Amino acid sequence: MDREAHDRLDALQRDPYPLYARARAAEGLTFVPELDAWLVARDADVREVLRRADEFSSVQALRPDVIPSPAAFAVLAGGFGGQPTVVSSDGPAHQRHRAPLNRGLSTGRVGELLPFVARRSAELIDEFEPHGTVELVEAYARRLPSEVVGRLIGLDPVDVPAAVYGSNRAEQLLFRPLPEDEQIAAAHDVVELHHLLDSYVRDRRAAPRDDLLSGMVEALAPEPGELTLDQRHELVSNVQNLFIAGHLTTTAVIGTAFLHLLGDRRQWELLCEQPESVHSAVEEALRYDTAVQGFRRTTTREVTLSGTVLPAGSVVFVAYGSANRDEQRHERPDVFDITRRPTRHVAFGYGTHGCPGSQLAREQLRITLELFSRRLPGLRFVDEGPGEMLPTLIHRAPEHLHLTW
Ligand code: HEM
Repeated sequence: MDREAHDRLDALQRDPYPLYARARAAEGLTFVPELDAWLVARDADVREVLRRADEFSSVQALRPDVIPSPAAFAVLAGGFGGQPTVVSSDGPAHQRHRAPLNRGLSTGRVGELLPFVARRSAELIDEFEPHGTVELVEAYARRLPSEVVGRLIGLDPVDVPAAVYGSNRAEQLLFRPLPEDEQIAAAHDVVELHHLLDSYVRDRRAAPRDDLLSGMVEALAPEPGELTLDQRHELVSNVQNLFIAGHLTTTAVIGTAFLHLLGDRRQWELLCEQPESVHSAVEEALRYDTAVQGFRRTTTREVTLSGTVLPAGSVVFVAYGSANRDEQRHERPDVFDITRRPTRHVAFGYGTHGCPGSQLAREQLRITLELFSRRLPGLRFVDEGPGEMLPTLIHRAPEHLHLTW
C-alpha cells in the first residue's frame, strides 16, 4: 500500500462519520476505494443486507484491510489458524459453529459470570484509585473484558495477557499497514498464540471441563478420540475469533463510553445523579460511537440494493456505525444524549450473525458505569483532554484516556 493510500485509510478509520453522512445522503450505494467495497450506510439498507443472508454471504466478513506479505504468510503457515469461523461462514456451517456459543453465552451462563465481573471491576478500581490519576484504557478497559472472556472460555488467568498480546498482533497484521519486518514479527507472535490455544484445545479433548472451550471441542469434534489436524485448525481459529470478538469490542465501548460521558460532562453528572439512567447510558454509548463500525458481505448472485445493481461477487461494507447515526431512524443522531429513549440500534448487528455476546457486553458496561459513577463521581480528563481515536473500523476506541477525579 503506498503512502497516500495508507494516509487516506488512516484518516477514514479515525473519523468515518463525514463519509457516512455523504453516503447516506447519496442516491444508491457509494463505492469507497479505501475499503475496496460498496458502503451500505443507511439503517434500512443495513438491515436489508443482514436479513438477506443467502444473497449476502459472510465468507469475507472479516476480509483484512491489508494483505500480509508472502514472507508473513509463510510464518503463519506454522500456526493453526486460517479456517472459517462463526463470523465467516454461512448456512449450516454457520449454525454448527454458532450452536456452542449460544449455549455458552446463554442468559444463565452470563449470570454466573457477573459476580466475577463485579469483583474484578472493583479490584481494578482499587488498584489505581489511590494514585489520583489513571490511563483508563490500559489500567481498566483492556483488562476487564479480556479477563472476563478468558474466564468464559476457560483460559488460565496467567495466560490471558499473552492471549491479549497475540490477538492485538493478529489484528495489527491484518488491519494495519505495517512494514514487512514488522509483519513478520507480528506473524511470529500470532503463531505463538495459535500454539497456546492449540494446547488448550487438546487439553479439553483429553479432560473436558465446565467451560465454553470444552463445549466448542465437543460440538465441533463430536466423535471421540484424538483430534485431527483439521479439527485443531478449526478449533483454534474459532477460539481465537471468540477471544478477539469478546474482548476488543468491549474494551472499545468502555473507552468510548467514558470519552463521550466526560466529553460533555453534564452527561456524566446526570449519570451520577440518576443511577437508574445507566441502562439508557449503555445503549447510547453502544449506538453513538459503535465499536464494530462494520463488517463485509459478498453477493452470491446479482442483487439490487437501494437502486444500485451489484453483480455476483461484489463486496459491501455493512456500516453499523453509520446506520446508528441515520437521521431517518434516530432523532438528533449526532448528539450523545443518555436521556434519549433507547431506540433499536444495530451495534450488535442483526439477524443470523447478530452478536451472541451482547448481553455479556452490556452487563460489563453497566457494572463499570455503576461502579465508577458511585466511587469516582469527580472523574474528568486531565488537562490535555481526550487523545486520538485508534485507526480501526472493527473496534473503534480512544487510544488513551488520561483521567483524574
Ligand atoms: C460492545 C461489545 C460488542 C460489540 C459492539 C459486538 C458487536 C458485534 C457485531 C456487530 C457482530 C455481528 C457481525 C456480523 O454481522 O457479521 C458480532 C458478532 C459476534 N460477536 Fe459480538 N460484539 C460485542 C461483544 C461480544 C462479546 C462479549 C462476545 C463473546 C464473549 C462476542 C462474540 C461475538 C461472536 C462470536 C460473533 C459472531 C456471531 C456470528 O457470526 O454468528 N461479542 N458482534
